[in-house]
Amino acid sequence: MSGIVNRAQTRAVLALTALSVAVMAPPLFAGQKLGEVQPARSADEIYARTCGYCHGRNVGPIILGRAIPAETVKYIVRHGQNGMPAFRPTEVKPEELEALATWVEKSAARKQEHGY
Ligand code: HEC
Repeated sequence: MSGIVNRAQTRAVLALTALSVAVMAPPLFAGQKLGEVQPARSADEIYARTCGYCHGRNVGPIILGRAIPAETVKYIVRHGQNGMPAFRPTEVKPEELEALATWVEKSAARKQEHGY
């Protein structure tokens, strides 16, 4: 009788262990080695690679040169808004988002995004 309980308990513990390992596993980026810290990217690099995929290309609204408050930018990036997806801290790091949001707020408009 106690043998059955123990096996069931062992299975539960094993399942929980497997689950917590999966949940705690750090995200892997292309070319990243386990435990390797990735350097924070600059704001204009993130804009060019991530935001600029839509913004300034007639997919998302123009966001540069409009003095959109940094707090608003941060909120929208983390929560998404209608057609815009939310970005997780594994995609845009907290310190990267701080710099990006301030950069967007203080940015000048870009001629090429307005088509002239
Ligand atoms: C997949 C396309 C896509 C990507 C990538 C994207 N956005 Fe957006 N974003 C949108 C769309 C579409 C909207 C308009 C949402 C709406 O209609 O409410 C938007 C809206 C916004 C707004 C509000 C603009 C306004 O006029 O009120 C901000 C700020 C913003 N995005 C910032 C960013 C930042 C910063 C990034 C990069 C981390 C980013 N977005 C990446 C599609 C995108």
